[in-house]
Amino acid sequence: MNFQFQKMLLQIRLSKKIALLLFLCANSLWIQAQELTSPNKNLSLKFELKEGGIPSYQLSYKQKAIIKPSSLGLELKDLPSFMDGFTITNTAQSSVDENWNPVLGEEKTIRNNYNELVVTLAQAKNNNRYIRIRFRLFNDGLGFRYEFPKQNDLNYFVIKEERTEFNLAGNHKIFWIPGDYDTNEYAYTTSKISEVPSLMKKATIDINSQWPIKELAVQTPSMMKSDDGLYINIHEAGLINYPAMYLEVDAVNYKMLSHLAPDAVGAKGYMQTDAQSPWRTIVVSDKATDILASKLILNLNEPTSYKDVSWIKPVKYIGIWWEYFVAGKSTWAFGKENNVKMTDDFTKLTPNGKHGATTERAKEYIDFASKNGFDAILIEGWNIGWEDWIGNWKEDVFDYVTAYPDFDVKAVHAYAASKGVKIIMHHETSGSATNYERRLDRAFQFMNDNGYDAVKTGYVGKIIPRGEHHDGQWMVNHYINVAKRAADYKIMINSHEAVRPTGLNRTFPNWIAQESARGTEFESMGGLAPDHTTILPFTRLMGGPMDYTPGIFQTDLSYYGTGSSQRVNTTLVKQLAYYVTMYSPLQMAADIPGNYERFPDAFQFIKDVAVDWDNSYILEAEPGDYITIARKAKGKNEWYIGGITDENSRTANITFDYLPAGKKFIATIYADAKEANWNENPQKYTVNKVVVTSKTILKQYLAPGGGVAISIKEGNATELKGLKKL
Ligand code: NOJ
Ligand code: CA
Repeated sequence: MNFQFQKMLLQIRLSKKIALLLFLCANSLWIQAQELTSPNKNLSLKFELKEGGIPSYQLSYKQKAIIKPSSLGLELKDLPSFMDGFTITNTAQSSVDENWNPVLGEEKTIRNNYNELVVTLAQAKNNNRYIRIRFRLFNDGLGFRYEFPKQNDLNYFVIKEERTEFNLAGNHKIFWIPGDYDTNEYAYTTSKISEVPSLMKKATIDINSQWPIKELAVQTPSMMKSDDGLYINIHEAGLINYPAMYLEVDAVNYKMLSHLAPDAVGAKGYMQTDAQSPWRTIVVSDKATDILASKLILNLNEPTSYKDVSWIKPVKYIGIWWEYFVAGKSTWAFGKENNVKMTDDFTKLTPNGKHGATTERAKEYIDFASKNGFDAILIEGWNIGWEDWIGNWKEDVFDYVTAYPDFDVKAVHAYAASKGVKIIMHHETSGSATNYERRLDRAFQFMNDNGYDAVKTGYVGKIIPRGEHHDGQWMVNHYINVAKRAADYKIMINSHEAVRPTGLNRTFPNWIAQESARGTEFESMGGLAPDHTTILPFTRLMGGPMDYTPGIFQTDLSYYGTGSSQRVNTTLVKQLAYYVTMYSPLQMAADIPGNYERFPDAFQFIKDVAVDWDNSYILEAEPGDYITIARKAKGKNEWYIGGITDENSRTANITFDYLPAGKKFIATIYADAKEANWNENPQKYTVNKVVVTSKTILKQYLAPGGGVAISIKEGNATELKGLKKL
């Protein structure tokens, strides 16, 4: 080999080494900070390891900071934490753009479009034990979760606390309820983040079986607005086999920190690899309407594995229900006694004379449902156990299969079937999940045998297993097991007092609605603030449909002569608007039938309104102030509009450009009368038929605490004739 040749070889080797070195340097630099943008480039995410190998992320929207650098990690029980000492061992990016169709929903087709970054993080100090963090960046926000793959040095582990930070960019306005392991039934407080500490005590009003978190914490979905007009919503998606997350509030630094619901022994999640946390979600926009239109949470949930979903149907229903709260005439309980056992002979009880769920009453409701086109009636108080169902932390309260002596299940069902009406089963568990699980199969078989295809479940009271919470991992799994088991029997579930939803109605579409918030029942127990329902869609409803139970026409409850001076804090028309603004494929007309008969022209809207939709158009919205939404009925050329306002009157700007162009439609407008008012004159309204087209713009007056409801149908020449064009 001559010298020149040797020199050349050396140079080649050297340059190869340099190239390798350069590559490694670049790679490790590149690997330490990862960036991801949303498909439309409005959002950008940066992930990096801080000193000490602490994972950190930040998020911006149109160049404005949403989440400033915030750490990620988890503390484990009796094991080294997943907080620091990480190196990045792998990263991968990918994109998805697809459409899917929910079984029931606000949209027939939902677009799932995101860019994804998966970072693998290993801890050299712990035998290279590793986790993954998966980020999905959508045009409307970010979702991320922790993943724990199967590996030699990680099998079983117990979470002590999740330490996910949300380091906010300012002292935002926040719409909040106190963080509580057992209930979401609080009234909302609107304040600055910095004011949360001083307002917490006042906000933590007394509620049945509450467990306010000791640390200063708020519930999710947490809705915020920055001074420069950005809307930020933090929640979670796909809460499975994990406790619910709350946000601890650092009111000085405007930082939120995850806090999980503990179990009976204080642990926060028993895990076995392969496992993952739920998605942590941050929905962001400079338009409030985008927050309500977001499908990010549903998109992050898994598609359903149910093969046949044909039995899952939208439901509009009435019920033997509101009278228990207001009329004072009837009760769930049959007996006068206030100390009974499940094993007692209930035919021997002394009737209290006020039992609501009698065969006779059920038949009256069936007649009303059938006459007015309702799918179903809910009958509460049909089964034994209500004499002392609450307050004793008692395990065996209800057996779910034995009716009171004055309720004939077979006769009621035969009558309902003859009228084409379904009966909705009621399973109040009084928090005794153990008793319910033991009896679940018999209870569902009983439903199948007697023609019930939907059940309202309830979890009022302290949970059994004692020491567990409504929102802990054990109960989270319970609700899901009930939904899955119900699917085996083709039964739909509407759960009350369960953990708030996280979009699981995509995966378990028979879990069609939930309460998990302060609903209409509270209008009879102190009332709801007039802005309550302008906040709920931005908070609780971000996770899924709510069985809010609207439709109260008799809003002054002194009407019943029971000495109550309670008021439902809305106008009558606002109650109509809720069928559109409070999305649910299961909607109740909650008032007593007699009250609907007194206002037949307004009742027409409830009879007509759809509960399942092809498209939804969020026309205007501001949390705490107002919401106007238009929706197209599933498979029909019919549109329904609902608009609501808080305690202030306003003029809604209603557009119709989603209507097919060049055609005339008949709009029936249900409006607050000029003199209407939620507290003094709630029942004054007008109903007008007019002609509208896609070009119409309507400026509609809404009374204080009021609303507007509009139904739109196609009309032939004779129907259109003589109607005024708007
Ligand atoms: C509370 C529920 O929210 C309500 O709707 C139900 O009537 C009662 N519990 C009794 O189960
Ligand atoms: Ca409730």
